[in-house]
Amino acid sequence: MGNIISKKVQDIQPSGIRAFFDLVLGMKDVISLGVGEPDFITPWQIREAGIFSLEEGCTSYTSNKGLYKLRLSISQYLKNKYGLDYCPDEEILITVGVSEGLDLVLRSIINPGDKIIIPLPSYVSYGPVTELAGGIPVYIDTAKDNFKLKSQILEEAIDEKTKAVILNYPVNPTGVSYNKKELEEIKKVILKHNLLCISDEVYGDLTYDFIHTPFAALSEAKNNTLYLDGFSKSYAMTGWRVGFACGPKEIIAAMTKIHQYTIMCVSITSQIAASEALHSGRKSVEEMKREYKRRREFLVSELNRIGLECAMPQGAFYAFPCIKKSGLLAMNFCQQLLKEEKVALVPGNAFGRGYDDFVRISYAASFDNLKEALNRIERFLKR
Ligand SMILES: Cc1ncc(COP(=O)(O)O)c(C=O)c1O
Repeated sequence: MGNIISKKVQDIQPSGIRAFFDLVLGMKDVISLGVGEPDFITPWQIREAGIFSLEEGCTSYTSNKGLYKLRLSISQYLKNKYGLDYCPDEEILITVGVSEGLDLVLRSIINPGDKIIIPLPSYVSYGPVTELAGGIPVYIDTAKDNFKLKSQILEEAIDEKTKAVILNYPVNPTGVSYNKKELEEIKKVILKHNLLCISDEVYGDLTYDFIHTPFAALSEAKNNTLYLDGFSKSYAMTGWRVGFACGPKEIIAAMTKIHQYTIMCVSITSQIAASEALHSGRKSVEEMKREYKRRREFLVSELNRIGLECAMPQGAFYAFPCIKKSGLLAMNFCQQLLKEEKVALVPGNAFGRGYDDFVRISYAASFDNLKEALNRIERFLKR
């Protein structure tokens, strides 16, 4: 067939996380603090709602936009929690996780050569999905500003081809988040240049030290925001694949157009389970959050004690310690740690070029596993 694969796809690099975890596969007794996935299983009443819907014979397609009942619940939830007003008919789309929402919005807004600003380090998919949509990712390194995007640096990166900024907070992989005052500064620049803020708030519920503020809830920001959220992280529902996108109706209509030809709709079982999550799952979210917070404090104090400098993450379930003292670069550090002590972490450079002095540690793992992994890391460092 010759060279059948498109140039665009050939040029995309495989995810650094995947490449590393191919090494983990097949190894025994490994403690993995690598994957970004809750160690909890979905709370029972949510699973039960899915099972019961199957027993009742709910096995059909739904409307392309998603079950009205779920869109209405999302609309009410956002109104009650954040005072945000989204019309369930025109301003909300149910997606296959935040992942699909991100892909849809980028494909909806990008003309070839348009630029999308991405603060680094970032979740692995932002750059490749931008490129697949025909856009040009413009990366901003935030390391020197304690991993926070500063408004002045953002402004300097904007030019006439800039179309949107992807803002994720709490951030995967650093756990950094932004308070309202910091968001206001970023908002001023976004509004001044009339850009779209694609706000990935999938970890919003897991904010520990202050109240999470959705970007769209800042005054006058809603029309310039495409808000992405989902059930994967806070409700421990990664495998159900349900997310939602909320935003201006013309953007949601464009996203729906792509979604209806490519996906049609999210699985009805998952949508029913997600409705139940909003209905009765909040208590479980708070319980899981308390446990993550307890682990966060233990992990960060232990990392600093054993000599891996680490700031306190404000949200999500990741720590991003500096491993410079080990004298190893992140990839070597992770490979040797895996080989010698059977602990899997993710090298910092999986989240952007130049983060060779950092590793990502997920504390979505049991307390016992965290303790044992830290013993092993300490032993490794002592050698
Ligand atoms: C920042 C961020 N956004 C999006 C996703 C994907 O989430 P979903 O399962 O909703 O597709 C992840 C998953 O790790 C993530 O870390």
